[in-house]
Amino acid sequence: MSVLKGRRIVLGVSGGIAAYKAAELVRLLVKAGADVHVVLSEGGARFVTPVTFQALSGNTVWTDLWDARMPNNMAHIDLGRDADAILVAPATADFLARLAQGRADDLLSTLCLARDVPLIVAPAMNRQMWEAPPTQRNLGLIRADGVTVFGPAAGDQACGEVGMGRMLEPEELFERLEGFFVPKLLAGRKVVMTAGPTFEAIDPVRGITNISSGKMGYALARACAQAGAEVVLVSGPVSLPVPADVRCVPVASALQMRAAVLDALPGAQVFIGVAAVADYRPLEAAEHKLKKSAATLTVSLTPNPDILAEVAAREDAPFCVGFAAESRDLDAYAEGKRRNKRLPLLVGNLVSDGMGGDDNTVILYDDTGRHPLPRAPKAEVAQGIVAHLARLLGA
Ligand code: CTP
Repeated sequence: MSVLKGRRIVLGVSGGIAAYKAAELVRLLVKAGADVHVVLSEGGARFVTPVTFQALSGNTVWTDLWDARMPNNMAHIDLGRDADAILVAPATADFLARLAQGRADDLLSTLCLARDVPLIVAPAMNRQMWEAPPTQRNLGLIRADGVTVFGPAAGDQACGEVGMGRMLEPEELFERLEGFFVPKLLAGRKVVMTAGPTFEAIDPVRGITNISSGKMGYALARACAQAGAEVVLVSGPVSLPVPADVRCVPVASALQMRAAVLDALPGAQVFIGVAAVADYRPLEAAEHKLKKSAATLTVSLTPNPDILAEVAAREDAPFCVGFAAESRDLDAYAEGKRRNKRLPLLVGNLVSDGMGGDDNTVILYDDTGRHPLPRAPKAEVAQGIVAHLARLLGA
């Protein structure tokens, strides 16, 4: 269940081309169970009509300070009342300027001034407008006023330029808004993780890999970041978006993964090995593509280093968490791995329950015994693991 379920979110949309992305954001929020109330500035309503937002949110859309539909004619007070947060996305340069000045000359600005709930803005504007000293000055002012700023990102802009100022994508805004409400159980902690499969080259176009999708590892990286940790995710080849506020180090082979982990480890209090690391790699990778001339082909394999065991055996070992995906005898294998690698916590699951899919059923093994978590989407399982980890770290 998303932390946004049942939350009342006021979504302000000011007049920028990124307003079209706000429609998708409403859809994501509603899907997660949030109660979304959209307020459009005059400019916002020129880009996307109220009808679109009304259809997506299922709620009345507000644009006018003088709207008589609110019985007491106080939309600017009532909309913010009982809201869990106001998010303005996109927030234009003009909107930020008016926010910094405390202007109250339309419904959205008045609502922001008359609020006693958290205010978050997602800036969206042309690169030069973003870099302009007045905009940066205004940002400093609104941050000092306690406003949270999501983004912007760098990239292609609607105006044809490339640079800073592009609004975060709806999925990322959604993820950050979720993170805003997640308890900061791992604040101040640095977490290094591995995820995904590894790829062990046989020749320039072939290799040995496995069916790990990376979904569990990426969900856990997201949950750790949302819980306030600094997260470095050393990832084998997967096709998943990097979670917000996570530093991803892409690698292919187990040897590269090991090197990247050791590089990232200084200062880390937690190491989590979620990756399905290949236990063996070809003794040597052919420099050129192998030809199918031979009747038989033998590839000699040599063991890969066990990254988790190596980290856990260090004198300055961080708190180490292992994963075990088994096809049978989960309890015996999982507890055996935990003891062999001397891990304070191991997450076990049956391959048939989780690998590749969106849901997972896991059991947590620690010094006090086994703790099954209910079957749930991987995002929720990840939150359960983080809560357990935080308890063990605190103890
Ligand atoms: N692991 C690792 N480096 C390796 C192998 C595994 O860091 N070379 C980590 C995985 O990320 C996971 C845990 O160790 O956290 C899995 O333990 P392991 O006993 O290696 O699992 P399997 O490889 O599945 O073992 P087996 O094939 O013997 O079942």
